[in-house]
Amino acid sequence: MIAYILFTCLAILPLLVYLQNPYFLNDCGYAITGFKIGKRLAKIKKKFSSILDSFLDHVATHPHKTFIIFEDSSYTYSQADKESSKVARALSRHAHLKQGDTVALFMANEPQFVFMWLGLAKLGCTVSLLNHNIRSKSLLHCFSCCEAKFLITGADLQGPIEEVLPTLKQDGIRVFILSERCDVDGIETLSDKIQQASDEPLSPELRANITLKSPALYIYTSGTTGLPKAAVVSHDRMWRAGFLQRFAGVRSDDTLYLYLPLYHTAGFIMGLCGAIDHGLTILLRRKFSASNFWNDCRKHNVTVIQYIGEVMRYLCNAPKRDNDKDHKVRLALGNGIRAETWAEFLERFGDICICECYGATEGNVGFINYVGKVGAIGRENFFYKRACPYAFIRYDTEKEEPVRDSRGFCIEVPKGETGLFVGKIGAQTPFSGYAKNKQQTEKKKLRDVFEKGDLYFNSGDLLRVDNEGFIYFQDRIGDTFRWKGENVATTEVADHLITVDFIEEANVYGVKVPGHEGRIGMAALKLKENMDFDSKAAYQHVKHYLPSYARPRFIRIQDTLAVTGTFKQMKVKLAEDGFNPDVITDPLFYLEDNKGYIPMTKEIFNSITEGTLRL
Ligand SMILES: *[C@@H]1O[C@H](CO)[C@@H](O)[C@H](O)[C@H]1NC(C)=O
Ligand SMILES: *[C@@H]1O[C@H](CO)[C@@H](O)[C@H](O)[C@H]1NC(C)=O
Repeated sequence: MIAYILFTCLAILPLLVYLQNPYFLNDCGYAITGFKIGKRLAKIKKKFSSILDSFLDHVATHPHKTFIIFEDSSYTYSQADKESSKVARALSRHAHLKQGDTVALFMANEPQFVFMWLGLAKLGCTVSLLNHNIRSKSLLHCFSCCEAKFLITGADLQGPIEEVLPTLKQDGIRVFILSERCDVDGIETLSDKIQQASDEPLSPELRANITLKSPALYIYTSGTTGLPKAAVVSHDRMWRAGFLQRFAGVRSDDTLYLYLPLYHTAGFIMGLCGAIDHGLTILLRRKFSASNFWNDCRKHNVTVIQYIGEVMRYLCNAPKRDNDKDHKVRLALGNGIRAETWAEFLERFGDICICECYGATEGNVGFINYVGKVGAIGRENFFYKRACPYAFIRYDTEKEEPVRDSRGFCIEVPKGETGLFVGKIGAQTPFSGYAKNKQQTEKKKLRDVFEKGDLYFNSGDLLRVDNEGFIYFQDRIGDTFRWKGENVATTEVADHLITVDFIEEANVYGVKVPGHEGRIGMAALKLKENMDFDSKAAYQHVKHYLPSYARPRFIRIQDTLAVTGTFKQMKVKLAEDGFNPDVITDPLFYLEDNKGYIPMTKEIFNSITEGTLRL
């Protein structure tokens, strides 16, 4: 009898557990991976090793495995090792680079980018990853953030570098180009020097002073305000972000498709570093191409892809084919996919595990949706919260600050309610801040949150947790919006606009467009007295100074720009107004692709909202 009761209890136990939490097994799996990663980190802490060391381990164990496939060439682990040793020797000999030096890389996605970084890592240098789309003033600003004395550029980017060369020369910066010949005074060639260098391994002594806390990279982020900031990525941080692939279940026999820019965290750390951690084969591409995407995957047996939300939509928008499900992709890792696109993607391209993640380059706590729940960016986990404490606090969107109670402390929102996400800053969850920017670093810190003296990282993101513990992204506060996967800092765009001679003031914001993720740029302008809007000059200016994703697509001319009591520009109302010429009586302009600003019409508006005109 007792045996019978016991048996029945045992039999229904799984059912009870399931009814309580249908994701019990996923949660356990996640916790186990977390413990394993914790153990790995402890080992790395005890005896420091970097991602470079992990790469060298793979070179030793499988030298002939393919590391990078790019266009018509491919490189094994051993070849990449030798190439990067040549880079390191050439730079050590001709630029006298040594550990602790910072070097800025201004390159597009190509194997040389990876060899450059590996070579610089072999010398113990910190590498600043410049966005190769930026130009002139922004380029100089980003370069100066990290106090680099050296800049290395790809041969295809000589033009933009020549433009800023006078300033670089003035500051005594040494500039190298990946080319065998260059007649420009102040730019030294590097390819010839690399070719002549020996490929002998370099002594680890050259980087013996590097620790887990040393800066490994600077990655630029728009954050919430102002010009881009250089987030300091320590070796510790690099490991942690690279471990994301472990949480997602990537295996060493996977092939990763890497087309996201290597100057961002997603491409460089989550993609490249994660792949090196596992010793994967990487199919590297210059940039995303919807028409080649699946053919590439088929041709090279790609099993893991990375995404940003926009890319998933481009893939779904491409014409349907019979062989849509004919591929080996089993896992997609990324962020920003909308729930509708998610369902459509699975329906069309088959059973692919979509692993949506959340985190900022400089952020100290992130999430991962390890059960594939459509629409969620992550899932709360008891063990994770113990290791990396965080909270969702009530936020006043009018005053633009967290709500405080009578004692001055923040208030946690109940489940189901949207709150500002903050991560506790501690030994396990450090915040390295921004290079040479104390003010912006301080701005991201929130003090006295739940008790006197505590310290949190303010993500600037509004999230919501549902009753099952799934986390959903709601909104980003402050002055940044996202378009085509890039953060656009409104103040930076405005700074450029007001240098145009007929523009007195500019208020830049993002507007929603039906069928598109994120927001597209729009600017409300106040013109100088007795001056007209010169559409040609405005276009020439934004084209020259801003990457295409940051150019205001719509312009609205106003007599006065509204400000708040504290003289902050009002953006919410303008963003809500949008770009409908029937609603807005102010003069409106639309930026036509490769042409310029033309007056906005009802026809253009309709084509955009109906989706016949793609932005
Ligand atoms: C490494 O650190 C030691 C001790 O602080 C110092 O003497 C040495 O010069 C450093 N080496 C380099 C290359 O910076
Ligand atoms: C892809 O996989 C197929 C079947 O397993 C194999 O025959 C082919 O050689 C592989 N192609 C590449 C490029 O690895």
